[in-house]
Amino acid sequence: MKKLTLLLTSALAALGLTLGASAYAADQKNELEIFSWWAGDEGPALEALIKLYNEKYPDTKLINATVTGGSGVNAKAVLKTRMLGGEPPDSFQVHAGQELIGTWVKSDRMEDLTPLFDEQGWKDIFPEGLVSLIGTDKGIWSVPVNIHRSNDIWFIPKNLEKWGIEAPKTWDEFLAVAPKLKEQGVVPLSMGQNWTANHLWESVALASLGAEKWESLWSGDLKFNSPEGVAAWDLFGKILQYTNDDFSSLSWQQATDMVVDGRAAFNIMGDWAAGYLNTTKKLEPNTGFGWLPSPGTSGNFIFLADSFGLPKGAVHRENALNWLALLGSKEGSDAFNPLKGSISPRKDSDLSKYNQYAESAAADFARDTIIGSLAHGVVANEGFMNDFASVMETFLKTRDSKVAAELAQQIATKNKIGQ
Ligand code: GAL
Repeated sequence: MKKLTLLLTSALAALGLTLGASAYAADQKNELEIFSWWAGDEGPALEALIKLYNEKYPDTKLINATVTGGSGVNAKAVLKTRMLGGEPPDSFQVHAGQELIGTWVKSDRMEDLTPLFDEQGWKDIFPEGLVSLIGTDKGIWSVPVNIHRSNDIWFIPKNLEKWGIEAPKTWDEFLAVAPKLKEQGVVPLSMGQNWTANHLWESVALASLGAEKWESLWSGDLKFNSPEGVAAWDLFGKILQYTNDDFSSLSWQQATDMVVDGRAAFNIMGDWAAGYLNTTKKLEPNTGFGWLPSPGTSGNFIFLADSFGLPKGAVHRENALNWLALLGSKEGSDAFNPLKGSISPRKDSDLSKYNQYAESAAADFARDTIIGSLAHGVVANEGFMNDFASVMETFLKTRDSKVAAELAQQIATKNKIGQ
């Protein structure tokens, strides 16, 4: 029987279909399985949404399936296995942009949510630029739950005072102060496992290239192995001299903890760190923790958005649609985002529910140049992102800018970036 199912699955896969709903038609349970990487310290915002869902749909059993690992490093692999195996969750977390479009929409695994957007009046509620990132000429493919900023530098004001330094506005300023911190036994910039190096790289590359050239990398107009491309790796290499040696074994929260504990002065991370510092660590923005745009990127907002979609073959489709409606609602969005560190993607969100960090992010989002994140799925498909992780591994070992830039160009060509 198992063999027959397998045969059938591969025959259907050849036709671009999955067993999906029919295979699970027997499952009449009133359940909803949602899938994300928001576990543990990353969980409170999602739990607030789940609480609302449970209040609205008390008869539905919500299964909160999570796979820990920042930026979805582990969850995405599990999701892939489930999707390709014809066992999709009812709804799953995915970044707006190429992670959604270039991966799951391209392979025809998602349901078009245009009817839901029309029913909810969302086309006027979410910014046009965001809707275009989750849409194609054939439909709208997910519901955005937040807007996160990637390019922030975090610090503890009291610690900086103690060390007699200020937060750097440029990388030159950072490189001037870093040796002094090192002498005092303080790690100038904390870093975590591989994906956080990619995260740091995008802030550094933006500072080195400027907004226009950053965009040109993704449109294919600027080659990764151009002199400008190599220069971004050179600067990145200089900065890496001032990070902690044990980075590869640390989660992003542990790298943030180093700053909180005063073992490190700074950390570059997305503003889920604001959620962690405020919701989990109970530090208040401005007094307890401080932030600035990452060095050299003032006026630019590296943006990303988490969203949830409806995969074809979701067993509990109706429950998933209710989930998505809640996620995009004003009530849902304003319950989730103040805890998450992100701002609401809705134009009508109630800013009185948000803290000073979020207020500053909302103000910057309204006036800055908006740039797509690489590390969080906006500008490149998953093929490129996976390959880029290997390029990063090579660079972390060799610190050879030219080789990294060459390899980056090779994977751009392979993954059809800008084509
Ligand atoms: C990002 C995601 C954020 C946060 C972060 C750390 O990719 O968009 O919501 O979860 O990873 O895990």
